[in-house]
Amino acid sequence: MTSSSYKTMGQQFGRRSWAEPWKIKMVEPLRMVSHEDRLLAAEEAGYNTFLLRSHDVYIDLLTDSGTSAMSDRQWAGIMLGDESYAGSRNFYHLEDAVRDYYGYQYVVPTHQGRGAEHLISQVVIKQGQYVPANMYFTTTRLHQELAGGIFVDVIISEAHDPSNLHPFKGNVDLNKLEDLIKREGVENIAFISLAGTVNMAGGQPVSMENVRALRELCDRYCIPIYLDATRMVENAFFIQQREDGYKDKSVAEILREFCSYTDGAWMSAKKDNLVNIGGWLAVNNHDLFDKLRNMVVVYEGLHTYGGMAGRDMEALAIGIAEGVQDDHVRSRVGQVLYLGRLLIDWDIPIVQPVGGHAIFLDAKAFYTHLSQDQFPAQTLAAQLYQESGVRGMERGIVSAGRDPKTGKHRYPALELTRLAIPRRVYTQAHMDVVAEAVKKVFDIRQQTRGLKMVYEPEYLRFFQARFEPIP
Ligand code: F0G
Repeated sequence: MTSSSYKTMGQQFGRRSWAEPWKIKMVEPLRMVSHEDRLLAAEEAGYNTFLLRSHDVYIDLLTDSGTSAMSDRQWAGIMLGDESYAGSRNFYHLEDAVRDYYGYQYVVPTHQGRGAEHLISQVVIKQGQYVPANMYFTTTRLHQELAGGIFVDVIISEAHDPSNLHPFKGNVDLNKLEDLIKREGVENIAFISLAGTVNMAGGQPVSMENVRALRELCDRYCIPIYLDATRMVENAFFIQQREDGYKDKSVAEILREFCSYTDGAWMSAKKDNLVNIGGWLAVNNHDLFDKLRNMVVVYEGLHTYGGMAGRDMEALAIGIAEGVQDDHVRSRVGQVLYLGRLLIDWDIPIVQPVGGHAIFLDAKAFYTHLSQDQFPAQTLAAQLYQESGVRGMERGIVSAGRDPKTGKHRYPALELTRLAIPRRVYTQAHMDVVAEAVKKVFDIRQQTRGLKMVYEPEYLRFFQARFEPIP
């Protein structure tokens, strides 16, 4: 996609076209935190935005996970919770919703996405097998590695370039994948780990053409495809907007077609499915289902609740149906694009095309004077918080962690600071505040110094690592 066609797409998303298809019935007050208090809070948190107290945050763009506002229908559903240990009616509603909207046959509930990742990784990966994926996600890769798998990135190379305007930067590079299969042998490939959209690439989608071709390739070698469906609804919306032949199809229709090319999926319901907690795993193969259902009772809870309360499952079943409505998705992604356009207009370097759930600031382009060992994206997240009270998160070298074999830092090509937009929570005026805050940090970028890591946990270090400013 060229820059001008990207702008044209932006114009289709003028201010009115994405107006929210809801009005506000209940509000939660925000606290404006003074500059002095923010400096203190940042220091206490070791310059890690995950360690801030939410009390000290003004606009919270740490994540779009579990931070959505539920609808009045979902809250009404909470009151219909059937808290029976076994066979809760809410589970069957959830099962019906997953079958109807995603099209998979057998459903296993889990407490959240990583619970599902744990189960599927333990059941389908044999020690030493490769797991090719369209880029890594932190918890996904870790569960695959803990199960003995070896992650291999097979996303198209465009995904590693923040300014490349490819409309489907989440696509799998089928040549890279086939080379791996031929090199290592088909018996050494556990499954294809496919995510739509790709979080770490900037919320970038996979095209229908790509997943169809992937299915054909995998059929030839008898390799299953399991989908990380966490933001697959947003992926379906991008297909509707960008791919030939889909503009008259509904998001729900596109979602079902996409899932039909895969053998199963795991889900962090805290994103697309509009709930504050929950997850699921769904497959079409009964033997696999049987194994997963056996595992779920060990780690999550009985197979008809998997770590969720009955009321959570009811809110989730309703959230699945709400989340796929075209006007909802248009407004959700439209708000992200709105913020992206403000920043692009000010020539602030962000990942383009703008993805579905977040703006990703290109920290390498902000701080050309910092090396990656000085944690540019961590620095940017800390700066933005200190300057404005807006909380984002690092998605760069800290998130990438260390290579399990060499113990050295992994140096990802993308060094990004993510501003994730919760669904149905903030207004357009909040987006204006965020854009101005980013601009302020951008304007003082040359005076900004980097960070050094002074505490590093063993797993998923980005959550709890601590830093100090380099003097
Ligand atoms: N897969 C993707 C693509 C995710 O973005 C996440 C979580 C998970 C799996 C794990 O799900 O949190 O429910 O256990 N992403 C959050 C984020 C944490 O902020 O992007 P979970």
